[in-house]
Parts: sequence; C-alpha cells; structure tokens
Amino acid sequence: MNQYQASDKVIIVDHPLIQHKLTLMRSRDTPAAEFRRLLKEIGLLLGYEATRDIALTNIEIETPLMRTTMPVLAGKKMCLFSILRAGDGLLQGLLELVPSARVGHVGMYRDPKTLEAVEYYFKAPGKLDERLCLVVDPMLATGHSAVAAINRIKQAGGKEIRFICLLAAPEGIEELGRSHPDVRLYTPAIDTGLNEKGYILPGLGDAGDRLFGTK
Ligand code: URA
Repeated sequence: MNQYQASDKVIIVDHPLIQHKLTLMRSRDTPAAEFRRLLKEIGLLLGYEATRDIALTNIEIETPLMRTTMPVLAGKKMCLFSILRAGDGLLQGLLELVPSARVGHVGMYRDPKTLEAVEYYFKAPGKLDERLCLVVDPMLATGHSAVAAINRIKQAGGKEIRFICLLAAPEGIEELGRSHPDVRLYTPAIDTGLNEKGYILPGLGDAGDRLFGTK
C-alpha cells in the first residue's frame, strides 16, 4: 500500500473484474497470448471509465411505437494516443470501445542509464485542439515518458488530455501531477514504488516484453 488516494485528478478504477484480470497479468506464469488478451479487455474497461462524462445531446427518433427524444453522443472528436510500444496493448481495447477514434503514436524509449524518455517517433491526426485525447501506456513508472509524451501532444495542439495506465508508481503520479496538473489519470492500481532500474514493484515486469513475448 502507499499514501496515495483517489482525487479529482487520480481516478482509481477498482472494479472487481479489472482487479481480477490485473492479478492474472501480474503472475509470471501468464503467457504472452493471455497477457495480451487481458490487457485489451482492461483497456476497454478503463476506456469506459475515462469516457464516463463525455457530452450527450438529444435527438428525435421513432421507436416502433412512438416518436421520442433520446440521448446520443454529442460528437466530440477523440484521439487515442499510444505510447509505443506497450501502449498498443491497451489501445486495442479502447479502439473496440470507440472504433471511430483517430489514433496517434508517440515513440519513446527509456535511456537505461538516466531513465529519461527519448522520443523517436510522433504522428498525430489534425485538429488536436478539438479532440479529447486519451493517452495510453500500461506502466506509469518514473513518469518521464508520460510527461514527455504529453508535452509533445500539447505542442501539437492537444488541450483536453487524459492518461490511462494499468499500473502506477507513486513517483510517476507525482511527476505527472507536477508537470501536467490539468491531466486526469485513470489507473486500476497504485503500487509500492520503483526498483533501482525504474521497474514498478510489485508490478508485472516489462509490459512490452510480456505483451510481445520478447524475453
Ligand atoms: N515499464 C515496464 O514495462 N515495467 C515497469 O515496471 C516500468 C516501466
């Protein structure tokens, strides 16, 4: 446990289905195919929470019985941003939930010595200022990649930004809150801290390696 509590900027998504799936993902015995499936499912469930307050508008429709007024999405444009490469695992679930969303990619790697984020790729759709940007990366560890990715998205015009992860370390939450106090964070769990290599403890290991079976 740790001292972090939910707040209006840190939303802990503690739904039992997500907690169960997350525990399965943490186990070292869970194979890559299963890990990938679970990450996609959790991505969809987290997306459901992160879009809970998007605007609705009323339209007139006819049911087989009568004319009536009912709500539909007001049509705010959306952009899902995956921080490569592990972000792609969460992205799949979000895309299932919002198939019409545009997708941006931010390529970041962690310098193994400094643990600083280094950008190697950025691609985003236009009119970012009109879109709700949902940035996904399974592991909010030091927070350096998240902060750098959001810096870049803001530089490209992004204004309304939310960050969705699978696991957060207190260090990452602090860093994200300090650099981007306007960005809401959605996470199912806040773990204890980081080890000397910047891995989350107890965590689940390297999310990219586990997702793609590269170790
Ligand atoms: N990235 C990972 O994949 N795992 C961690 O624990 C931290 C960063």
